Amino acid sequence: MKFMPSFAVAFLMLIIFQANASSTITVNSPNQIVQLKLATEPDGSVWYSVSRKDKAVILPSTFSFKLSKPQTVLNQFNIIAIDSSVVNDTWQPVWGELKNIHNNYKQLSLTLTDKNNSGIIIKLVFRVFDDGAAFRYEFPEQKHLKHFIIEEEATQFKLTGDHKTFWIPGDYDSNEFLYNTTKLSEVDAYKAEKEETAIGVTSPFSANGVQTPLMMKTTDGLYINIHEAALLNYSGMQILIDKKNLTLTSQLVPDAYNNKAYLITPAVTPWRTIIVSDKATDILASKMILNLNEPSKIKDVSFIKPQKFVGVWWEMFNGKSAWDSATHHHGATTANVKKYIDFASKHGIDGVLVEGWNRGWEDWYGQWKENVFDFITPYSDFNIDELTAYAKAKNVRIVAHHETSGSATNYERYMDTAYRFMINHNQNTVKTGYVGKIIPRGEHHDGQWMVNHYVRVAEKTASYKIMLDAHEPVRPTGLYRTYPNWMACEAGRGTEFNGFSHGNAPEHETIMPFTRWMGGPMDYTPGIFKMHLTQFDPNKKEGVHTTLTKQLAFYVVIFSPIQMAADMPENYEAHLDAFKFIEDVAVDWDDTKILEAEPGDYVTIARKAKNTDNWFIGGITDENARTSTVDLSFLDANKKYEATIYRDAEDGHYDSNPEVYVIEKKTVDSKTILKLKEAAGGGYAISLKKL
Ligand code: NOJ
Ligand code: CA
Repeated sequence: MKFMPSFAVAFLMLIIFQANASSTITVNSPNQIVQLKLATEPDGSVWYSVSRKDKAVILPSTFSFKLSKPQTVLNQFNIIAIDSSVVNDTWQPVWGELKNIHNNYKQLSLTLTDKNNSGIIIKLVFRVFDDGAAFRYEFPEQKHLKHFIIEEEATQFKLTGDHKTFWIPGDYDSNEFLYNTTKLSEVDAYKAEKEETAIGVTSPFSANGVQTPLMMKTTDGLYINIHEAALLNYSGMQILIDKKNLTLTSQLVPDAYNNKAYLITPAVTPWRTIIVSDKATDILASKMILNLNEPSKIKDVSFIKPQKFVGVWWEMFNGKSAWDSATHHHGATTANVKKYIDFASKHGIDGVLVEGWNRGWEDWYGQWKENVFDFITPYSDFNIDELTAYAKAKNVRIVAHHETSGSATNYERYMDTAYRFMINHNQNTVKTGYVGKIIPRGEHHDGQWMVNHYVRVAEKTASYKIMLDAHEPVRPTGLYRTYPNWMACEAGRGTEFNGFSHGNAPEHETIMPFTRWMGGPMDYTPGIFKMHLTQFDPNKKEGVHTTLTKQLAFYVVIFSPIQMAADMPENYEAHLDAFKFIEDVAVDWDDTKILEAEPGDYVTIARKAKNTDNWFIGGITDENARTSTVDLSFLDANKKYEATIYRDAEDGHYDSNPEVYVIEKKTVDSKTILKLKEAAGGGYAISLKKL
């Protein structure tokens, strides 16, 4: 890391800032495209603004903190120091989208004291990248105070217009919504939350804000994404919209006592991130959020292995079976799990997730019971010793499932025991879950207490050399750099919703890359091959709103080092020629090219499989059919590749004819330009093998 404090500049700035009139300083990004301006006003308020190539992105915006301990408002300051530095380095993730990640920014930090005599010192640290800007607040050691309680952080993002916005309501407990696309001034978070609650799928608590990542598009062609990075020991940030002034303000998720965060100095907040470009593809290629997270805290990463898994799972959503063993159609029986192990072993799939294997599912939901599951007591029709031996002999691992039913304290009590139990049964991956209200105190999924809980689980699983897949946590903020055993999170509306609601809209996965997936991998559970769900339950009128080859495309479009092949073996056996793509596709990558993208419309991504010369491409569209143009110029020049293309048949359609496809082979090279038709709600997948 190059660290170059420019004291002369800092000294000069100090003089400028102490002048009586308002005074401004400018920081340009390394390639000069993004510009940050910072200023102090004579009354002590500080504002920042961001522009890109002379187009304003964020107009002068201020910040303030309201504290309840000590009781004060921090919004007027004296500057006591200014520092600057430049970082330009490259690092290698344990797994990821790229082999090497470039981290290049200019940093400016202001050390401020409260002008109103509380004596509190706060640091404001800005980083300016070529793809945007980020900043955070730091509360260093203070002379007299050790402990702060934050009542509110009011960080402003003042916008230049009434942008097109992709948003979900600011529920304190859930990100599992379909996205709305409206002008900023037309956002109605209450209404959106109420509509969802009406079908009984979300948690009940709502704030009149929206979630981040918040994706916007301006009328003059800029794409702007606002989120946060490195959410640690703090509450998740939501966004309140002042529709009249087109100004966004942060709002932190409260705890059970309506406090927002408890800080013991020295403390830092997460980074507030503003990613901006005139190309939608650049937003998806941005590595800013990851770069703002700390390097891995896990020393020995040899146990961390990207993987695919199948599971006793979708059959609980499509009406075939149940989690609890009291019913006659319990899914997690020894015989049924063996079927999945056989299938996984035959097709080179690493794991088999088993849900409903342990006691407690009879009364797990909405009961306010703190102690439902112990995570170590199998149902009597699930012979864990027999299955452990069976899976081992077939070179497959059982993926553990720990549904906490929102009882995080109970889970903390059992964690060590549960992880030892896993190790004794040859299991090295756990899927956790936090369905329902957080008990016993009524914390929120996205509040500071739970934010810390998820991290404790990531650390504890790492200490047992276990990989983690967390369902219903706060949405990710790039922490997988710091905890690379934390493979994926759900924290968004995944495939499961097709099993019990009106389902996910065909546009859903064209918005998710720009929203939920900006922060990190999602266990989306793709790979459904039977779209109409009347197989077991004639009343399941709704279904999966994609074509079959769009489901294949998800394995490339969705970046995750753990990917489920979510459908049941019998549905795969009906289409083994298409399943071949799921067998072949990688889950870890040396390179990624975002080829085409427009939020809400289409996304096309190419990725180079780790340590190979092979590429995979996935393209998806929304409810509109389109032709995707794929320029293969990223392939090695003068080399030939065998392309296997899995695409929608001519008469394919996500609703009326979703399971028709064509598989064809072609020889291609870096001069080839492919034109591929995507059906309405469709997509395609390509594997490219170097010849
Ligand atoms: C919600 C999770 O997202 C889903 O994958 C799981 O099957 C259920 N909870 C039950 O734990
Ligand atoms: Ca879920």
